[in-house]
Amino acid sequence: MGLFLYFCVKNTNTLHPIYLDYNATTPVDERVLAAMLPWFSVQFGNAASRSHLYGWQADEAVELARQHTAALIGADAKEIVFTSGATESNNLAIKGVFEVSSLANKHIITVQTEHRAVLDVCENLARRGAVVTYLKPATDGLVSPQQVRNALRPETVLVSVMQAHNEIGVLQPIGQMAQVAHQNGVLFHSDATQAVGKIPVNVAADGVDLLSFSAHKLYGPKGVGALYVRRQKTPVLLAGQMDGGRHERGLRAGTLNVPGIVGLGEACRLAKLEIDSNALLMSSLRDTLENTILQKIAGSFVNGSQTHRLPNVTNIAFPNIDGEQLLLNLHRIAVSSGSACTSASVLPSHVLKALGLSDAQAQASVRFSLGKYTTPADVEMAAAHVVEVVQKMANL
Ligand SMILES: Cc1ncc(COP(=O)(O)O)c(C=O)c1O
Repeated sequence: MGLFLYFCVKNTNTLHPIYLDYNATTPVDERVLAAMLPWFSVQFGNAASRSHLYGWQADEAVELARQHTAALIGADAKEIVFTSGATESNNLAIKGVFEVSSLANKHIITVQTEHRAVLDVCENLARRGAVVTYLKPATDGLVSPQQVRNALRPETVLVSVMQAHNEIGVLQPIGQMAQVAHQNGVLFHSDATQAVGKIPVNVAADGVDLLSFSAHKLYGPKGVGALYVRRQKTPVLLAGQMDGGRHERGLRAGTLNVPGIVGLGEACRLAKLEIDSNALLMSSLRDTLENTILQKIAGSFVNGSQTHRLPNVTNIAFPNIDGEQLLLNLHRIAVSSGSACTSASVLPSHVLKALGLSDAQAQASVRFSLGKYTTPADVEMAAAHVVEVVQKMANL
């Protein structure tokens, strides 16, 4: 039934709105699904079973997926820890560093515009005695390596800055930030959930110590992700966040989600092959959508940098429009006004507010995120719909 509905959406556009919310989640690529299926039923072994073929086969599949996952981000397979997704990876990275350090008054540096999966972890640690600095981005969403340098203290244990932004797509200079952190003996973590699979990510080139990502943002299944934990030179030490077994080198106890991990591995393998062509396609469609809207709706503008940005996102503000009503009226397209985790709330985006937008401007902003299944016809119809709805609401 699920697959049937998916094909209807894909092929007719009649049952469902046009999907332009790929930063919230992506459909599972049919090739990924095909790779996963046997591991649910026929080859159902526990990857930790060491005494029979079922376990050996599952373990082999997990290790192959680990290689594909590592290859996409320029890591060694031994540096990949499988988790339930980026939220868990962020928790493991940030709490793991915090708990393993014996410093007093431990200090963490992050950014006001991070995803809740980082901000909530930092707030949790603040209640446990951590001191947290939240860097303020410029109006284009960018944070400079100099800001990181200025915020460092002798007690700083971690700098955590996301690579690509989920709402505005802005790309931070994480390589330079990691360098600044290292010059001061501090570890660097990046939530790269929106970057992996969309733009080239290379942990070795960027000198990142810890990097989080998730399968469901790159055409893999929900509920599985990974944390890269550097082992080169001096290996990064982390406190595991789950007790119950020695899985994943003691960093993540619990029976491995073999079908999910196989899906993540296949999604990463495909992304590595197709990343350039997908990015080219998405950026050209995104530019068409953005230019059409900006040209036809007076006063509309793009939130965040347009030069340091993911190829698939545009976040557009429609001043003088009731934001809540706008999203309701845009019923022919599936878009959002913020991250999926907060899209049920009517609060204006904390990200857009940090960029200097008023509550009303932030609420009247829409995130359009395209994907590899977006077509020129989708973009043409979506742009026409947005223009028609906004013009009607503004009596233009
Ligand atoms: C930047 C970022 N970090 C973390 C997450 C959470 O990922 P997951 O759903 O895999 O826990 C998301 C998903 O919306 C995200 O966009």
